Amino acid sequence: MCGIVGIVGANPAALRIVDGLRRLEYRGYDSAGIATLVDGRIERRRAEGKLGNLAAVLEETPLAGRTGIGHTRWATHGAPTTRNAHPHATARVAVVHNGIIENFSELRTELEAAGQVFESDTDTEAVVQLLDLLLAQGHGPEEASRLALKRLHGAFAMAFLFADHPELLIAARRGPALAIGFGDNEMYVGNDALALAPLTPRIAYLEEGDRVILRRDGAEFFDVDDLPVIRAIKATHVSGALTGKGNYRHFMEKELHEHPGVIGDTLRQYVSPASRAVALPPLPFDPRVVPRLTLSGCGSAFLAAHVGRYWIEALARIPCDADVASELRYREPPFAKGGAAILVSQSGETADTLAVLAMMKAQGQSVLSVVNVPESSMAREADTPLLTVAGPEIGVASTKAFSAQLSVLACLAIGMARARGTLDGGTEMRLTQALLAVPEAAAAILEQDEEIRALAHEITRARDVLFLGRGAMFPIAMEGALKLKELSYIHAEGYAAGEMKHGPIALIDEAVPVIALCPSGPLFEKTASNLQEAAARGGRIMAFCDAEGAAALSRFAERVVVLPSVDPFVAPILHAIPVQLLAYHVAVLKGTDVDQPRNLAKSVTVE
Ligand code: F6R
Repeated sequence: MCGIVGIVGANPAALRIVDGLRRLEYRGYDSAGIATLVDGRIERRRAEGKLGNLAAVLEETPLAGRTGIGHTRWATHGAPTTRNAHPHATARVAVVHNGIIENFSELRTELEAAGQVFESDTDTEAVVQLLDLLLAQGHGPEEASRLALKRLHGAFAMAFLFADHPELLIAARRGPALAIGFGDNEMYVGNDALALAPLTPRIAYLEEGDRVILRRDGAEFFDVDDLPVIRAIKATHVSGALTGKGNYRHFMEKELHEHPGVIGDTLRQYVSPASRAVALPPLPFDPRVVPRLTLSGCGSAFLAAHVGRYWIEALARIPCDADVASELRYREPPFAKGGAAILVSQSGETADTLAVLAMMKAQGQSVLSVVNVPESSMAREADTPLLTVAGPEIGVASTKAFSAQLSVLACLAIGMARARGTLDGGTEMRLTQALLAVPEAAAAILEQDEEIRALAHEITRARDVLFLGRGAMFPIAMEGALKLKELSYIHAEGYAAGEMKHGPIALIDEAVPVIALCPSGPLFEKTASNLQEAAARGGRIMAFCDAEGAAALSRFAERVVVLPSVDPFVAPILHAIPVQLLAYHVAVLKGTDVDQPRNLAKSVTVE
């Protein structure tokens, strides 16, 4: 959340900062702003709403200066207005911030009593006023920053710009990631290598608690104990080119159509082309003896973890637990000695999942991450990262990254089952072949776009929507509901089909369609019975199934979308695609902002 870019430069900074922010806009689009130093004075431009509004302001009133900081905001404290837009500034100092200052209220009271005058409702302004006071008391920028950072509670990545110091930026990290870029007689700061990619491929990451002083000729790092440290500079392979939409209307549509390629590319990492058998890298635990696995993540990533739990329990027979990271981090469950965690994340920067990672390590658990961004905190901090090969995902709602996560988890379940001897050779070969057939089946589902769009017409008028599935299709039902909610703003619930009669069945009427995920397999009959219970009460059933189940479901379902027939093992990967596509079409029909739904952001770096 919240994008940050800063330049201590040899050349004009403002438009280059906007360029960096454009690559971070998925992190928040409530407002954007820039501050630069012009003749030693802090000058600002800010605008409510998307980055385009700030770009228009800059076109009207350009901003000179070679050193500056910029921000794109996902509002936490204070409404998304220009007044609350970052950078926050006084005449002496300007600040951009990603995260939350938890003791801002106490600081504000203290600073107001000392005569500081606040002009916004944000938590961030407490940092600005604190720095301003320390500077007014005669501390230099470095000392003022050091003292101010000690007073702050919470999670943050921040950058400070000081009046009369045209060749200086100071930045700090406690929680969310922060990258430093090394240029040619210029230095940069940004959330990640992606933001800095057009400026430089030479990147160093701040460690937890670090502070860094940037001048045009280099960086001085200090660790959490204020001791000077060296942070390694690495060459990043992130492309400087901005990912485009191609011929698609939205990034989400493009990313949905990338499912087959992404699944194939990811499987190629974990299935040997020679033997066509799953070949995992060395794991940080021995699957033969690991007593328990804890799977976690947030949102769609958690739902992928949830499917992983069904697979690992069934195939590898390892006891598993799956919980959302925001709960797990405070749940205090007893962890088994020698246990391990599997953490799932597209961005690798989600605050709650990172907190679980730290907790797991502190509890002596080994940590495996399933992560899409190779340079992210979760990839760097896990004992072993298993990378998904989904490429940059720009649409705020996760799509292709989800199917890539499922692909890795399916390989992991098979690989661990083989190690434990819980799969016979024939079954292993059948499951692996089924996985390798997924890209082709995914492409066939995308060909059914028109049919799914027709179904979307039925959903746009719905008051609520129930998604039902059993077994590993239950998390996919929740994925369908999550996507529909976030994109179309229609209320939806994902339910275990067998649970419906314990409450949600009371909702059923003609304004509450039921979307059923009903592939053939051991749970088909059970799910079909649950659907009939809904149909008997006037429920409108729309089913996704395969040819084997179509006739039975057609007897009572209003619509049946017949997907390619596949092994039940891989059905969750394939059923995720049409439910995501359905949510996309409903959103387009309703005219919502598909790529940047209201109130949301990608890479949720606050808890
Ligand atoms: C939903 C969605 C979110 C993310 C969640 C976790 O469409 O995109 O629910 O899945 O915020 O994000 P990552 O995977 O980056 O940890």
